[in-house]
Amino acid sequence: MTRRGLLAGTAASVAVTASASAGGAQQAAGPADAALKTPVSFTVNGKRRELELDNRTSLLDALREHLQLTGTKKGCDHGQCGACTVLVDGRRINACLTLAVMHEGDSITTIEGLGTPTDLHPMQEAFVRHDGFQCGYCTPGQICSAIAVLDEIRAGIPSHVSATLDERPQLTRAELRERMSGNICRCGAYSNIVDAVMDVAGRPA
Ligand code: FES
Ligand code: FES
Repeated sequence: MTRRGLLAGTAASVAVTASASAGGAQQAAGPADAALKTPVSFTVNGKRRELELDNRTSLLDALREHLQLTGTKKGCDHGQCGACTVLVDGRRINACLTLAVMHEGDSITTIEGLGTPTDLHPMQEAFVRHDGFQCGYCTPGQICSAIAVLDEIRAGIPSHVSATLDERPQLTRAELRERMSGNICRCGAYSNIVDAVMDVAGRPA
């Protein structure tokens, strides 16, 4: 066999092998793809929602891309900014760090479920009154977080600022700063945010 003949034969057999393995991959992709989807149903802002989602869909993407609830913001998409904070069964979580299919039967509250433009939630009113935002991008997450923070303090859940595990946490500015530290505001509205939360808690700002 000449060198030219050997090269031509090798090229042909590589092409056949590649096409056979591409076909195999396509065959394998069908059922595997179908297996990636799972039906899930949960309550969002009081309404039952049923979705069939790729198992890898975060709760944040389910809310924003599948339910068009874009009030919950995507900042970092990996748990560092708090922009995506929502309430799940009353507890705050980062929606970008949890898979939607893990929330079967849960009750989820987003910023859209807290108040309306004509009937704001007290925390929303306080943020407006105390000028607790500039661009507003972090604000839905800050408000959801702040509501849960007051519940955590009322329930006696300690933080790093609480002196001991036995001592009930006190509602101080330091306590709020610590508990809200997972919610980043690049506009730096922090002191007004603390004023707003103190106001809702009935303490002097
Ligand atoms: Fe979820 Fe930043 S978008 S923590
Ligand atoms: Fe702009 Fe917080 S108000 S990031």
